Amino acid sequence: MKKLVVATHNAHKLDEIRHMLGDRLEVLSLTDLGCSEEIPETADTLEGNALQKARYVYEKYGCDCFADDSGLEVEALNGQPGVHTARFAPPSENQAEANTQKLLSVLREEPNRRARFRTIIALLEGGVPHLFEGIVEGTIATEKRGLGGFGYDPVFIPKGETLTFAELGSDYKNQISHRANAVKKLYEYLSLQLTETQS
Ligand code: IMP
Repeated sequence: MKKLVVATHNAHKLDEIRHMLGDRLEVLSLTDLGCSEEIPETADTLEGNALQKARYVYEKYGCDCFADDSGLEVEALNGQPGVHTARFAPPSENQAEANTQKLLSVLREEPNRRARFRTIIALLEGGVPHLFEGIVEGTIATEKRGLGGFGYDPVFIPKGETLTFAELGSDYKNQISHRANAVKKLYEYLSLQLTETQS
């Protein structure tokens, strides 16, 4: 079976990705490679960060790998926080809470609540990059709702729904999320390749 490394230390992400890709590919983690260091992400775009993380692993370990980077893009904020989504609010012990409170606060008087989550996956195959984009459109709620999920889930309402990601539950979220949409494209690309190799 073809082996592919996911350049993440996040166990939740790894589970999600293994769940989607695991029957066709052996998905290895950084821990499986014995890599425990923090991978730099200092680019100023999601594409740049995803490529930077994948290149780091490729150059160090020489294996095919992919990395993802996600951000929340709010229309009324001209696409911010975007690449700065994880650190939107100043550093805090509860960063997710600080970030969502800052978002609710800057949008308090704002009627345009439109936003989207965007994920970029960068795959390096033999050092050659391929990018896959996943988007979920939605709106920002006026208050936090729901206990599930992580990050901005309690304030993000995907298009066509009335509940937030945190209220919808992870099974449903993982079918429609930005990350799921990007992973589906990666899966289609890799499946096509596997079919071509086998025929
Ligand atoms: P990452 O690139 O996947 O680490 O995402 C960067 C930041 O975007 C995270 O720290 C979260 O704040 C936010 N984020 C990414 N995906 C989600 C999601 O599915 N729900 C809520 N917040 C998310």
